[in-house]
Order: sequence, then C-alpha cells, then structure tokens
Amino acid sequence: MISCTFCAVLIVALASLTAVDSRDIAGDVIRLPSEASRFFHRRGGSDDNTGGDDDAVGTRWAVLLAGSNGYWNYRHQADICHAYQLLKKGGLKDENIIVFMYDDIAFDEDNPRPGIIINSPHGNDVYAGVPKDYTGDDATVNNFLAVILGNKTALRGGSGKVVDSGPDDHIFIYYSDHGGPGVLGMPTIPYLFANDLIDVLKKKHASGTYKSLVFYLEACESGSIFEGLLPEGLNIYATTASNAEESSWGTYCPGEYPSPPPEYETCLGDLYSVAWMEDSDIHNLQTETLHQQYELVKRRTANENTGFGSHVMQYGDLNLSKDSIFLYMGSNPANDNYTFVDDNSLRPSSKAVNQRDADLLHFWDKFRKAPEGSPRKIEAQKQFVEAMSHRMHVDNSIKMIGKLLFGIEKGPEVLKTVRPAGQPLVDDWDCLKALVRTFETHCGSLSQYGMKHMRSIANICNAGIQMEHMAEASAQACVTIPSGRWSSLQKGFSA
Ligand SMILES: *[C@@H]1O[C@H](CO)[C@@H](O)[C@H](O)[C@H]1NC(C)=O
Ligand SMILES: *[C@@H]1O[C@H](CO)[C@@H](O)[C@H](O)[C@H]1NC(C)=O
Ligand SMILES: *[C@@H]1O[C@H](CO)[C@@H](O)[C@H](O)[C@H]1NC(C)=O
Repeated sequence: MISCTFCAVLIVALASLTAVDSRDIAGDVIRLPSEASRFFHRRGGSDDNTGGDDDAVGTRWAVLLAGSNGYWNYRHQADICHAYQLLKKGGLKDENIIVFMYDDIAFDEDNPRPGIIINSPHGNDVYAGVPKDYTGDDATVNNFLAVILGNKTALRGGSGKVVDSGPDDHIFIYYSDHGGPGVLGMPTIPYLFANDLIDVLKKKHASGTYKSLVFYLEACESGSIFEGLLPEGLNIYATTASNAEESSWGTYCPGEYPSPPPEYETCLGDLYSVAWMEDSDIHNLQTETLHQQYELVKRRTANENTGFGSHVMQYGDLNLSKDSIFLYMGSNPANDNYTFVDDNSLRPSSKAVNQRDADLLHFWDKFRKAPEGSPRKIEAQKQFVEAMSHRMHVDNSIKMIGKLLFGIEKGPEVLKTVRPAGQPLVDDWDCLKALVRTFETHCGSLSQYGMKHMRSIANICNAGIQMEHMAEASAQACVTIPSGRWSSLQKGFSA
C-alpha cells in the first residue's frame, strides 16, 4: 500500500522539480529623507582593533547567518562556514565576525565525514575554527537583530558578541537559507519578516555607527525583502540571489555535474552563494569592485541555457558598488598577484536544484541508495511521503481559503497577484503576521516549504480581509491539522 502512495507522490514531486518562473522585475528603489544623526565617537572594541586593518577605513565587521537546520539543508551552513574562512583569510578578526548557525551538520549521523563540512565537491573543510556565537536555540531573530544594532541587553543566550561598530566602520551581512515573499527562514521560530529587518537597518543607520553596509542575501524570493522597502540614502548596498518572485537554487547536488562525492546525499552549496565566494576566494579583492562581482555572480547564477537559475538583483545605494570588495571582506595576501579579470574561469554548473526541492532530493537519494528492506530505506520513504503530504496539505488549504474568501473563480487570481516592481509585498505587516498565525492555528505550520505562500496571505491582507473572516475560512478549509512535526502547536508560530 504505502509504496503505491509513494509512487504517486514521487510523480508529483518530479513534475514540480522542473517548474521555473523566470519573470524579471526591475529593482526600483524609493527615496526617503535621510534620518542620519551621527554620533562622532568610536565605541569600545573598535578603537583598539585598527591594527589588522592596513588601510585607514575603520574596522570591518561581518554577520553571517545560516537560517536552516537538518541534514537535507547541509548547504546553508556550509555556505556560512565558507564565508567565515574567506573573511578570516581576508584579515578580519574573530571578534568582528559574528556567526549564526544551528550547528547540527558537522556531527549529524548522515555526515559521511564527521566533524567536517565542505562547500564544493573537492573543497577543503570549512568548519574548523568557525566561532559558535549563536547556535541551536540561540540562533533567533531577536538575537540577529540585537547583534546588528549592537544592543547587548536585548540578547538572550549566545556568545554576547555584537556589531559594536563606529562611524568609520564597514559592515558585511551575509544570509543563506530558505525564504518566501517578505520572509526569511530561521532555524528557530519565528521567522524574520522584511519590515523588521528594514526597520533595524534604518535604526542602525540613524545611530551613525557605520560608514557603509553591504548585504548579500541568498533565499527564495529574496528580492522581496528589499523591493520597495530599502530606501536609498542609508549607505546600504544589497544584492539578492533572486528577484521578488522566483526561487533561488541549490548547487553541487547529487546527480549534477560537478557532483558531490557519492557518499553525500545532499547539496553542498547554493548557486548565488558559491558564485560570490568562489570568486572572492581566488582574487586580490583590492582589484575588484562590488559591481564587478555583481555582474559576474549574476551571469553565473542565471545559469543561462539550463533553465535552472535565478535573477540576481541589487538594491539600495547602487553607487556604493564602486567600492572595492576589500573594504568589506579584506583580501587574502596569498592572492596578491591574482588581479580580477572579467570573465574568469568559473564555470556554471550543469544543473541546479530549486531550494524548495532540495529536501526531497535528499530523501530520494537516501531512499535510492539504501539497501532493499533496510530500516534506512523505510525511514527515507517515510520522510519523503511526509514531506510530500505536508506540501499538498498546505497548497490545498491555501487554495481553498482563497476560494472561500473570494469565490471559486476569483480566488486563485487574487492569491497569485504580484504587485508592480518597486512596491512592497504588503502595506500592513502586522496584518500579514496576524493572518499567518490565524492560518497556522487552524491548518498547522507553513514551515520551510509553506513560506512560498506568503504572497497569497499578503494579498489577503491587501484585499482588506479581516481576521475573523480568515479564521472562519481557515477553519472550514482545514478540518484537521496533520499531526507530528508539522503541527504549529508543536513548533510555535512562524510570525
Ligand atoms: C536594547 O534592547 C533593550 C531590550 O529590548 C531595549 O529596552 C533598549 O531600548 C535597547 N537599546 C537601544 C539603545 O536600542
Ligand atoms: C552617489 O554618489 C554621488 C557622488 O559620489 C553622491 O553625490 C551621491 O550622494 C551618491 N548617492 C547616493 C544615493 O548615495
Ligand atoms: C607576487 O609577485 C611578486 C613578483 O613576482 C613576488 O615577489 C611575490 O612573492 C608574489 N606574491 C605572492 C603572494 O605570491
């Protein structure tokens, strides 16, 4: 019986692996009056650490965050560890690099090389030495925002390291994970909503505690985090793996070329992330600008002719992209003689895997390789079937709610509406969060996969639907909540 269910869900899954939406949206920006109020004093921590910075640019700070957990999400923590190694070789000090990762990968029982994490098929270990600042249940939204603001009293747990920066300092933030329209995943609940992130960036700017800030963001629909939300004039330059309405992609996955070593049943990296890091790894970063890197990463991530790729976007103060990468990442002295030249040796990969399907790929690869009749095979099958039925439950519930609220014909259309470029996803973020909680109360967790429906819930807010109506529709659509790990009652709410 179970194996027939399995065949059916597998067909659905394989069909979904090829769906690509590739509408490009121009990255318009909005302009707000600058709220800068500069405090012309350098705070403790930055004064005594100018020694490693051989230019007179102030201190370089970095915040690195992997937003997921679970072995099937290996690649996000691998990305973050790789970024740490890169910055460390570039000359940044541990006291200025703050790492958020769940830290469950290196010693996961599925990891074929215990204690080692790699970010490419022939890559070296990137795990050794990575500071464990905010791991496990301390890797929270609250701590991430407090770290950016340098607010130690707001921290709960963790190493206590924060971005204690001064007005001449440069900040680099790099985030890699799943996301959805207006939202970024975290290894813990709740998730990070775009408005809260943008508010914190505005506050950080208003406190006058940086000269410029660069944000590299890998997630599905990552453009939606800044689209219509990040104003010019904050001295922030952001690039994202995808536009506001498309997936981003995992890479170095089983079955691709180049492929991970056969004992790995998971993707080792993400397309946009490895594109910028493998470029930064090999060049004298004093000779390369952010803009040059953007162009190169854009080409590699588009993965033209394959259909597996996304549109890298840029937001905020685009003229900061004239800065050399060196200002933010330093540069490895061993690369001093490797000047950046356009069109370098980096090859696109043959294929990539949609972020949202990488877990299925893991369960499938595990299933395929496990010996017939083994407990491992049965476990993989169970994981696959559970993940697929969760997807179908969430997809169907949202569709049904749309029809209940707007009618059979109009429902799907309202849910799918995409606002024009330059407009934010939603006007009332509190409404979005409240409706997410309402949905989850009746229908269970959206979870990693269900974040894709954030635009539909935003559109329900934009249509002026009140919470009572959403609650009624959710209760009608979801007669039962699937039990176990997908229940919001167990996990807590995403918003
Ligand atoms: C730091 O966080 C605490 C606790 O959330 C808050 O009360 C305080 O106002 C914050 N300080 C600053 C400077 O933002
Ligand atoms: C861009 O650069 C120019 C000249 O350097 C400067 O005047 C302008 O304010 C900058 N614009 C922004 C949005 O930072
Ligand atoms: C760069 O080239 C110069 C001149 O050939 C050489 O002296 C120097 O050692 C090289 N530096 C590195 C890091 O390889």
